[in-house]
Amino acid sequence: MSDNNKKQYTKEELDKMSNGELARLGTELDGVTVAYRKERFPIANDPAEKRAGLAVGTYFALSIVFGLAFIATYLFWPWEYKHLGQDGLGWYTLYTPLLGITSGLAIILLGMGCVKYTKTFVPEEISVQTRHDGPSEEVDKRTLVALLNDSWQTSTIGRRPVIAGLAGTGAVLAGLAIILPMGGIIKNPWKPKAMGISGDGTLWTTGWTLANKGEERIYLGRDNGNIAEEHDGHWSTEGVSRLVRMRADDLDAGAMETVFPLPASMVNDGDKYDAHKDVYTEHMHSIHGARNAVMLIRLRHEDAKKAVLRTGQEDFHAGDYFAYSKICTHIGCPTSLYEQQTNRILCPCHQSQFDALHYGKPVFGPAARALPQLPIAVDEEGYMYAKKDFVEPVGPAFWERRS
Ligand code: FES
Repeated sequence: MSDNNKKQYTKEELDKMSNGELARLGTELDGVTVAYRKERFPIANDPAEKRAGLAVGTYFALSIVFGLAFIATYLFWPWEYKHLGQDGLGWYTLYTPLLGITSGLAIILLGMGCVKYTKTFVPEEISVQTRHDGPSEEVDKRTLVALLNDSWQTSTIGRRPVIAGLAGTGAVLAGLAIILPMGGIIKNPWKPKAMGISGDGTLWTTGWTLANKGEERIYLGRDNGNIAEEHDGHWSTEGVSRLVRMRADDLDAGAMETVFPLPASMVNDGDKYDAHKDVYTEHMHSIHGARNAVMLIRLRHEDAKKAVLRTGQEDFHAGDYFAYSKICTHIGCPTSLYEQQTNRILCPCHQSQFDALHYGKPVFGPAARALPQLPIAVDEEGYMYAKKDFVEPVGPAFWERRS
């Protein structure tokens, strides 16, 4: 940009120059050659300029409309899960598509408005500049600021307050359309709520925590994948059990199954089956509970005899059955794979491996903590249940863990 042969300007000389003079000086000092320049509307009060302004304003106004529609949808549309046959399923189904459509259109229309404005109002110009090495001098910095000011003036946006306002509002709303959805994932992990099938909202409670209250038995529920059934032309979950109680003889030796907390009051199977009872929603809440999933493993008998029991957890297993949290202690993926020959549990995310014969302790990969073990037992009818909650928080090792 600057070189030793050019005129050196003092601070006073620069102070005396107008913005236009500084901008021109900057162009010269930068070795910029304006090869071509043409004003878009050289004649004042050209009706075509007004029409162009209207078109640009329309893009920005529509961007605002869709930005506001996105915020209204995000805040007020019925978003809570509805299963097949439940009232309001149609409205709920539209929630995500509407968020996508409104935010997408707000951003796209804002972009189209900006492109249209640039193509319509900013002077057409082709400039050529040579490159330079080293840091910039004071005169270069000052003239650069002047050039930016000059660009603002030649863009004419400063004298089009309506378009500037519409563009600014559209940009803010489009930005909100990107940022606002993150609000749903910002939560206070220490704030307890009413205790339910997913815990009390804090990180160290789960649906199994209900077992500590002692008010009712918490069975190990197996997910049978049932969905709403059609009766006389309408869908209903009445009498449909998504979770059923696990029996001690349901698994073969060397097998693994994922189970979820199933309180006695939500049981609808076996001798407790009632065709008019509807517990489907509660079952789904249990399945969706972020920390509820547990791997129930039936070790082969000869392996179970070799199991190393952790101090204080000697009675956590029920015969050959061992239950470990499915949430990986690395960063929380489901540790879905069990290899019966080696008795290893594998997390597919980063290949951590845990030893099911050794209280779920990590033996390979980035996980540094054992999988929490759920204390289980079998009742007089042969159903499996949780004797109490985990003795430590489940999931990644970065909170409240001692082991
Ligand atoms: S989350 Fe399991 S290994 Fe990373």
